[in-house]
Amino acid sequence: MALDTIIKGGMVVTATDRFQSDIGIEDGLISVLARNLDDAPEIIDASGLLVMPGGIDSHVHLDQPGSPGIVMADNFETGTRSAAVGGNTTVLPFCLQAKGQSLRQAITEYERKAEGNCHVDVAFHLIVSDPTPHVLGQELPALIEEGYTSIKIFMTYDDLVLRDRDILEVLAVARRHGALVMVHAEGYDTIRFLTDQLEQQGNTAPFFHGPSRPVVVEREATHRAISLAELVDTDIMIVHVSNRQAMEEIRRAQQRGLAIYGETCPQYLVLTENDMDRAGMEGAKYVCSPPPRDHDSQLACWEGLQQGVFEVFSSDHCPYRYEDEAGKTNVKGKTSFRYVPNGIPGIATRMPILFSEGVDKGRISLNRFVALTSTNHAKRYGLYPRKGTIAVGNDADLVLWDDKRKVTITQDLLQDGCDYTPYEGMEVTGWPIRTIMKGRTIMAHGVVSKPKNGTQLKRTLPRVKTY
Ligand code: URP
Ligand code: ZN
Ligand code: ZN
Repeated sequence: MALDTIIKGGMVVTATDRFQSDIGIEDGLISVLARNLDDAPEIIDASGLLVMPGGIDSHVHLDQPGSPGIVMADNFETGTRSAAVGGNTTVLPFCLQAKGQSLRQAITEYERKAEGNCHVDVAFHLIVSDPTPHVLGQELPALIEEGYTSIKIFMTYDDLVLRDRDILEVLAVARRHGALVMVHAEGYDTIRFLTDQLEQQGNTAPFFHGPSRPVVVEREATHRAISLAELVDTDIMIVHVSNRQAMEEIRRAQQRGLAIYGETCPQYLVLTENDMDRAGMEGAKYVCSPPPRDHDSQLACWEGLQQGVFEVFSSDHCPYRYEDEAGKTNVKGKTSFRYVPNGIPGIATRMPILFSEGVDKGRISLNRFVALTSTNHAKRYGLYPRKGTIAVGNDADLVLWDDKRKVTITQDLLQDGCDYTPYEGMEVTGWPIRTIMKGRTIMAHGVVSKPKNGTQLKRTLPRVKTY
């Protein structure tokens, strides 16, 4: 056995186990787990640190086109660099089909943008906005076969919304070919109605983004999405769940034996609607959808994480610069919350926030932390066991974590393309010290290595059903 690297003296933590072990790495794979390994050209001292599977963030938006004149703050280089800073080794961004565009054309464009520019491994979900007969009958089945095994659909947004009939068509294709549909569950017409009313009353500040899409809007759409999935008998993942009523819809469905999965995100644990009520345009920094809610919603999201209603914890990293006419403070955005681009950054802060608020404060176990930030993403999205755990034969994707390190989050630490973080000034306990992808250090003490060795991963189906 000719090891290339040994990670020495750390406490290995997986979704199920915790044990003291060295890790021997050969050709980018974990080759041995044992104590007292000492023969390799590179020995990395992990004493006093936790050694966990590298983070997998299965909900990120990078270099995604938006409304005319609006530009996302991260391309694949900056977004994946920030991912590495935050302890991640794989991210799953979205490949968005514009209306009228073929899915194949969309994926070709995204892959060209990603090629050679990624610090971490990448696998794409598809966003279907135009489910034509050709997309449903030919493109989707072929792309699912090729490993694009998850599809996001939207129940809101002018450019993306699918009506119930279209949702059913996509769900039916997913069921037939074994793909997973991720659902953005907020109702289009209810939001339009409330937005028009708020504007007519002169309520246009960023704060009114929250009242334009209250809990009932999310609960209704969550219930409808679950009903449509039940009708077609297919699995769905309700993404970025923000509150108790939506969480309870998912829990009820699960208790009835339906394969409905849930995801929540850091913004729903530590931000509230009050953050959008800051002076001037400052509230725009927190505008995302669904919006952050209230204290009870935060408690409900914790309950969902603790009880397994939510199986993944993702960032929904969707960054727009604040001081930028192509971002949060674009000219029209200053006239109404309706035009403030939705989404906030968080790819680097996802794991530290969950560790600090969850593990350090005793809300979740260390094993659950690993499941929620890595293992469950790999399992649900067809990357397991190559990714998401620490075992012989798997990719040596690891994060060395200092569980005692106290860090005050500031934008300059995060190295993304944004000009602010919604978590500025928040103190966290626990921080990634080194990120290792396929045996190579890609980040150490905040310094990201120059080579960009991230590749595009081929995924398998989570499961296949046949009629
Ligand atoms: O506000 C958000 N979440 N924007 C990102 C797009 C999405 O819906 O995930
Ligand atoms: Zn969404
Ligand atoms: Zn998103």
